[in-house]
Amino acid sequence: MLPEQKDILWTFLSMAFTVFALYAFINVVRHAREREGVNGKFWGTVFAGFLVISFLETVHMFDLVQGEQLLFFFKYIVLTVFLLLLSWGIFFKSEKIEDQSPPIIRGFFFWMAVSVSLAGYTNWLPQQRSDPPPKETAIAGDLTMEEYAEMGRVIVFGAKQVAGQKSIGKGQCPLCHTFDPGDNIGRCPNLFGVEERSHTRVKEERYATSPVKIGDAEPATGVVKGKPDQIPAAYKRAGSPDLIGEDYLRESLMCPTCYVVEGYGKEGDTKSPMPVISKPPISLSPVELNAVIAWLQSKDNPGDYSKVTVPLPTAGSGQAKEEKPAEDEGEKPVFVTGNEPIDEMINTLGCPLCHTIPGVEGAVGALGPVLHEKINAPKRIKDPNYKGKATNTKEYVKESILTPSAFVVFNEEAGESFPDGLMPQDFKNKLSIDALDKLVDFISQTQPQG
Ligand code: HEC
Ligand code: HEC
Repeated sequence: MLPEQKDILWTFLSMAFTVFALYAFINVVRHAREREGVNGKFWGTVFAGFLVISFLETVHMFDLVQGEQLLFFFKYIVLTVFLLLLSWGIFFKSEKIEDQSPPIIRGFFFWMAVSVSLAGYTNWLPQQRSDPPPKETAIAGDLTMEEYAEMGRVIVFGAKQVAGQKSIGKGQCPLCHTFDPGDNIGRCPNLFGVEERSHTRVKEERYATSPVKIGDAEPATGVVKGKPDQIPAAYKRAGSPDLIGEDYLRESLMCPTCYVVEGYGKEGDTKSPMPVISKPPISLSPVELNAVIAWLQSKDNPGDYSKVTVPLPTAGSGQAKEEKPAEDEGEKPVFVTGNEPIDEMINTLGCPLCHTIPGVEGAVGALGPVLHEKINAPKRIKDPNYKGKATNTKEYVKESILTPSAFVVFNEEAGESFPDGLMPQDFKNKLSIDALDKLVDFISQTQPQG
């Protein structure tokens, strides 16, 4: 699925449940009116309460993106309906309205009971925790592999979920990648099963020669392909020089163009649009990079760390000492106020991961159009397919940042549109008004250099 997509099924079901809560409310009020001695006020309030809660939950569903919707549905909505049915049954029994509650309640109740126990069971299984990540400074002590992989997870997703924003950590991976089975429509490979793939990739014929030959240095990063013993010392693993799965994962992060997953590259799969994770703007340190690998190797089987081959960082291994003290990155929402220098603003927002932006060092992203807006914007507005509201360059740039889907740019090089929905739709939550003005001013004057 594309990054900001919502799941229609769960939203629809929660709407259906709200209608159901309304039905229950009306049904109870009717029974209370028809009979004497029934405490109509009490029961009316209880069922009105359920109706309001269901309604608010449904509204909340619209703020969530796919994965969270599923979780919210099974954690809260199903529970609400379960309690509603329980109360409905009790209402019928306690007020002696009928010996048995009507079949619709019993049938629904059974179904709900099964769902709740299933949800309870999956919750009971080992799962991702959301408590604070182990700090790098704590590395001096003993770290377990579970804590180390958790550090990797936090680098990928951030420590805290921020309402209205997708969870994205310092590593920025979820900007492009998906992680759940079947979640396959993105422009970047789904990373489910990547641990397993890491072992077979290095044995592919394609790996040996394309786009760089094993033993050759990839020009942009200088990484020598398929030679773990020639990786820069700080990132190098100990042990045999044979190529193992861990090396493939490390190479994917340090030299994306060393091997380009078929169908996901540029220029006939000879160039990867993925940023080099060990270089700016993401710049993961060796300890962080290994933490991400530890997470990649263990995420598909929660609680099982037997496939993890990266070593734990140790206090004595000069490696850990070079680390800066932990910053609280990922624990606060991404937000720029406009007081930052423009480069810093743009890097914080992550634009360079997808865009090449003249005048911003290291902004060589290739998933979106090159930002030459001084020239592009007037062209777009004149495009017969343009349906947006902008009448000048600044308005067009502002529109592109706040509502990227207002106009989806055609990629002339590839002969097809750029993917709609890839550019995050929630920048409005990450920018102050000042910051937006500053960003629009800067992007509006970008043009080819030299
Ligand atoms: C700007 C988008 C982008 C970001 C950010 C990004 N990737 Fe990628 N990644 C890609 C694309 C596109 C590919 C496929 C092309 C290739 O093989 O390099 C890819 C490929 C990969 C692969 C190889 C997958 C396979 O099936 O062999 C791995 C592993 C990977 N990324 C991990 C990561 C991790 C971990 C992060 C975060 C630290 C990350 N990526 C951040 C776009 C991105
Ligand atoms: C995950 C990748 C991604 C990120 C991050 C991203 N963009 Fe985009 N952007 C795209 C894609 C893909 C398009 C083309 C599709 C479309 O028009 O919606 C695009 C289109 C645009 C356009 C229209 C370009 C044109 O020539 O018409 C502008 C302007 C733009 N982005 C600015 C930004 C800015 C500023 C940021 C950071 C605040 C940013 N983008 C972050 C992927 C991204």
